[in-house]
Amino acid sequence: MTQTRKLFIKTYGCQMNVYDSERMAEAMGAEGYVTTDRPEEADLILLNTCHIREKAAEKVYSELGRFKPLKAARPDLKIGIAGCVAQAEGEEIMRRAPIVDLVVGPQSYHRLPRLTRAAERGERPVDTDFPAEDKFDHLPERPARTIRPTAFLTVQEGCDKFCSFCVVPYTRGAEVSRPVDRILREAQALVDKGVREITLLGQNVNAYHGAGPDGDWTLARLVRELAQIDGLERIRYTTSHPNDMSDDLIAAHGEVDKLMPYLHLPVQSGSDRILKAMNRKHTAEGYVRLIERIRAARPDIVLSGDFIVGFPGETDADFQATMDLVRTVRYGQAYSFKYSARPGTPAAERDPVAPEVADARLQQLQALLSEQQRETQDSMVGREVSVLFEKPGRLPGQMVGKSDHLYAVHVVTDAAVGEIRRVRITASAPHSLAGELI
Ligand code: 5AD
Ligand code: SF4
Repeated sequence: MTQTRKLFIKTYGCQMNVYDSERMAEAMGAEGYVTTDRPEEADLILLNTCHIREKAAEKVYSELGRFKPLKAARPDLKIGIAGCVAQAEGEEIMRRAPIVDLVVGPQSYHRLPRLTRAAERGERPVDTDFPAEDKFDHLPERPARTIRPTAFLTVQEGCDKFCSFCVVPYTRGAEVSRPVDRILREAQALVDKGVREITLLGQNVNAYHGAGPDGDWTLARLVRELAQIDGLERIRYTTSHPNDMSDDLIAAHGEVDKLMPYLHLPVQSGSDRILKAMNRKHTAEGYVRLIERIRAARPDIVLSGDFIVGFPGETDADFQATMDLVRTVRYGQAYSFKYSARPGTPAAERDPVAPEVADARLQQLQALLSEQQRETQDSMVGREVSVLFEKPGRLPGQMVGKSDHLYAVHVVTDAAVGEIRRVRITASAPHSLAGELI
C-alpha cells in the first residue's frame, strides 16, 4: 500500500481558482494524498496563484520565502506553483526561486500527478502548455466529500474579448466551453452527494456554447436543463460580459425559478470614451438599457458589478460618468479596483493617471457603492426569502445560510446543513441579515 501523504493548497484570486484547487486536490487524492490546512506537515505545497492585478508575482515570492525554513528542515518537501502567475511567469519563477519544484499552468492540472512524480525524481518540470486535450476529460470523477450544500462547476474557460487592461486572455487562453453531457453528469454527481446549489463558472460564462446532442447549446438552455435535476434547488452563474447577455438568458431569469435573482455583470466604467479605450465594445447607455431589460424580466434581481478607476486617460468627467452610471443602476454588491498595469496588455503602454488621483476616485466610488450595498441589504428587512443553510452560526442554536439574493442570513433554527427554509428577515447588520423561520 502506498503511504498517505499530505497536500497543502493555498488559493488566491477568483472562484475558478477555488474550483481548480478542489479538482487538483482530487487528482492528487487518487495518488494517495490527503489535504491538510497546515503547511508544516505537508509533503506537497501548491500555491494556486492569481495574476489579475498588481503585486501578484511579488506575493508568490514572499510566500515562498515563508516556506524556506520548512524546505530546509525537510528537503523531501515539494513546492509547486499553479494558476495564472505560473502560466505567465513560470520559467522566471523557476530561475528566481530555487525552492520551487514544479510549475503547472491552469490548462495542465490533469498532468499534476505526473509532474509531481517528475519533481520527486529531482526534475523541475514546467508545464504551461495549452494542450489540445481537455483537462476535465483526464481528471478523476469527483469523489465523495464532506457534505457542503453549495458547489462550483466550471462550464467555460478562457476569454476572447481582450479588454485592453486584462491578462485573462493570455493566462487562461481562448474561450472553450465544456460539452453539455459532461456538465450534466458532473452536476448530477454533485447533487447525488448532497449539493443543492451550483454556481456555473466561466471567465465569460454567458458566452457558453458547449456541444450538445443537437448542436451547440447556450447558457440559457444549459440552465433550463440543469433546472430539471431533482434535488438541485438553486442555480447561479458568474462572470458575465454585457455583450453576451442574450434574450434567452434574460428570459430565463424570469422563467426559471431555480435561477437565483442575483447577477454579476461588470461594466468597468461609465464613460464611453474609457469603455472604448478598454475595448469593451459597448456603451454606458447600452449597459443601462440592458439592465432595464433584465429588471423587467426579474424585478427583484440584485445586481453586482466590477469597476476600474484610474484607467489611463481617465479624466474627472470620465470618472463622474462612472459615478452617474452607478447612481442610475443601483448595485446591491460591487467590486472596485484601482487600475493596475499588467505586463503584455495594450493599456500598460499608455500614460498612467497619477496614483493620488486614482486613490481619491476609488475612495469616492467605494463610498457610493457601500451606501448602495447597505440600502439594498436593508430593503430586505420585512421580506420573506428562502435560505439555504450552510453551517452553524456563532450563537447557540443558530445557523447561517445564504438567501436567494446571496446575502448571509443568521437564523435560530433546528434546520440542518443543506436544508432550504422560508425565512422572514428581521434585521440588517453590516455584512449579514438576521431572520426567523416562517
Ligand atoms: N487593473 C485593475 N482591475 C482589473 N481587473 C481586471 N484587470 C484589471 C487591471 N489590470 C478587474 C476587472 C475585472 C475583475 C475581475 O478584475 O474589474 O472585472
Ligand atoms: Fe478580462 Fe473579462 Fe475582459 Fe475577458 S471580458 S478580457 S476576462 S475583463
